[in-house]
Amino acid sequence: MATWSAPGKVFLFGEHAVVYGKPGVAMAIKPRVFVTVRRSRNPSHAKSPYIDECFRAMGVRGSVYVRSQLQSSSGLGSSAAVTVATLCAINDEFDMNHTRDEIANIAFNIERKVQKGRASPTDTYVSATGGLVLITGSSKRRLPPQNLQLVVGNTLAAHSTAKMVEKVGKMRKNHPDIVNPILDAIGAVTLAALHNIGNPKELGRYMDMNNALLEALGVGHPASSRLVLAARASGAYGAKITGAGGGGCIIALCPRRARSRVAGAIEACEGKAIITTIDSEGARRENDD
Ligand code: MEV
Repeated sequence: MATWSAPGKVFLFGEHAVVYGKPGVAMAIKPRVFVTVRRSRNPSHAKSPYIDECFRAMGVRGSVYVRSQLQSSSGLGSSAAVTVATLCAINDEFDMNHTRDEIANIAFNIERKVQKGRASPTDTYVSATGGLVLITGSSKRRLPPQNLQLVVGNTLAAHSTAKMVEKVGKMRKNHPDIVNPILDAIGAVTLAALHNIGNPKELGRYMDMNNALLEALGVGHPASSRLVLAARASGAYGAKITGAGGGGCIIALCPRRARSRVAGAIEACEGKAIITTIDSEGARRENDD
C-alpha cells in the first residue's frame, strides 16, 4: 500500500495571457489531495476518469482511496492534484522509477485526454513540484519560495475553464487591436510583480491591476467582484480573480494580521474562504497508518 498527496495551485499573475505565450506566475497552496493505492486482484475505486486513465497509462491495476481538501471544479487544480498523487502512489506501490518531471508529463497528457484537449500544463507541473513557478510559453521555472499570506475565496459559482479560454480566444479574434494590448499589459504586470516579489504591498497593487485587465477580457463575474471588493475593504493588500474566472475563485494577498478579517468578509459575501500560503514540497509520500 502507498499513500501520496499533491497540492492544489493558484495563479498569482498572468492567467489567460499565458495561453498566448505571456509570462505567468503560479503557486502551489497548502490544501492537498491524498491518494492511497494498493495492489489488488479485485481493484475497486471511486468512479473517476482521471484515476482510470492513471492505471491505463501506468499499465497496472489496483485499488484506490481518495481524500481531498480541495473543492473540485473550483479552479484550484484539484483534478491535477488527484492525477499527480495517483500516479505517484502507483509509481511507488508498483516499484516503477518515474521521475517527478515524467509524472508531471504523464499527468498532463491524462488531463488533456479526459478534458478532451483542454488542459493546463501549469496545474500538473505545480502540483508535482510545489513552490512558486514562472511559466513562459512551454517553459516552467521554479522561483525562490515567498512567504505570501493568501486568502482564497471560492465564489461557489460553477465555471468552465474551457469556456472561459474559448471566450477570450473569440474576443481576441474579433477585436485583436483591443485584446492583444490587454494581454501584453497582463504580461507587463506579471514582470513588474516578479521584480517586486518580496514587497507584498506593491504585489497587492499589481494584483488589483491584473484583476482589472481580467475584467476587461470578459472573465469577471458578479460573485468574484463582490469577494474581491470585500477582501480589499477588509485590509487585503490586493485581490484578484485566480484561474479562468467566470465564477471560480479569487485570491487576496493579506498582511498576516488581516487574514481572519478578510476570510470573514469573504464568508459574509457567501463565499468560502481558505487561509493559506505556499506549499513548497509538491507531491509527497505520506505514512501509511
Ligand atoms: C486556468 O487555471 C488558467 C488559464 O490561463 C488556462 C491555462 O493556463 O491553461 C485560464
